[in-house]
Amino acid sequence: MKTLGKLAVPVQQMAEVQAQRSLGAHAFHLCLLLPSFPPALPGQFIMLRVTEGGDPLLGRAMAVYRIERSRSRVILEVVYRVVGRGTDLLSRVIPGRRMEVMGPLGRAFRLPPPGTRPILVGGGTGIASLHLLAKVLAAARRAKSDRRFRDLDVLIGARTRKEILCRADFAALGARVRLATDDGSQGTRGHVAALLDKVMAEGKRRGHPFGLVYACGPTPMMEAAWRICERDKVACQVSLEGPMACGMGVCLGCAVPCRVESPDAAIVSPPARYKLMCTDGPVCDASGLEWGWEEGPAARPEGKAS
Ligand SMILES: Cc1cc2nc3c(=O)[nH]c(=O)nc-3n(C[C@H](O)[C@H](O)[C@H](O)COP(=O)(O)OP(=O)(O)OC[C@H]3O[C@@H](n4cnc5c(N)ncnc54)[C@H](O)[C@@H]3O)c2cc1C
Ligand code: FES
Repeated sequence: MKTLGKLAVPVQQMAEVQAQRSLGAHAFHLCLLLPSFPPALPGQFIMLRVTEGGDPLLGRAMAVYRIERSRSRVILEVVYRVVGRGTDLLSRVIPGRRMEVMGPLGRAFRLPPPGTRPILVGGGTGIASLHLLAKVLAAARRAKSDRRFRDLDVLIGARTRKEILCRADFAALGARVRLATDDGSQGTRGHVAALLDKVMAEGKRRGHPFGLVYACGPTPMMEAAWRICERDKVACQVSLEGPMACGMGVCLGCAVPCRVESPDAAIVSPPARYKLMCTDGPVCDASGLEWGWEEGPAARPEGKAS
């Protein structure tokens, strides 16, 4: 499968807050201004470090939502929800405040192979990791008469109507956006993975099946999406968003079990190998993971939702 470009060497830089606005339900859209920044590919992330008296010590991982560059500056955007100390501090920064940014980090999504129809599915803040990908797919659709880019289907899941994120931005890219909420306050009632199942069945019935699912959200949601893909023999790329400390392969704190492909290693009961989410991911083929791991105390609160 073709990559979307070459991964740039990450840098560490100071950024200035250009703007921050509330999206409701403790979610925010932050715009950072930098003199320069390497190109970020869809699925890559940055570590943002905003501290008060040195606390918290570590940066917080955020997907690159949008990146715009002109000759003299780069604007980096992230969309996030407040879940703890780091994101709470982030939500209180005002224009002019400076913070440390490291990135772009991790591996990126890969393009759908020729003739393959993709679908994007995001749960909670996971949808933020798919926006740059949607932008690239939308641009490819405009540039080519390739069948795989004919439609851009996006499914967004949230607990309630108020927590639905980024819908207008995806619609502005020309995407067909469908929604699922746990409480049924907007879109289909239930988990977004159930909506994926329905939409995939619809595609098959109409003779225009989906061949690749891009998923990001709470781990149980991504696992549910993968189970549907596994059953239907559809490829699935996921962007893992478990807790990270260093973000660059040093602390080994973000290891997730992966399937053992080598026949020699089959004598070792799985999980025998691990991937580091920050450097081997965050984007991985769902088929290569040994699903069902516990995220322990750091499991995202949204994990119970879609
Ligand atoms: C590659 C990547 C991209 C990400 N992109 C985004 C994004 O675009 N927008 C966004 O809102 N969030 C994103 N996240 C999650 C974000 O990094 C965490 O929400 C953040 O680090 C929490 O920091 P905190 O100090 O506010 O919370 P903490 O005080 O560290 O934790 C508060 C609560 O959140 C849980 N938690 C902390 N980190 C995570 C995590 N990574 N996953 C699940 N639960 C966690 C903790 O267990 C605890 O229950 C991303 C994570 C990764 C790994
Ligand atoms: S977060 Fe430190 S190794 Fe991945």
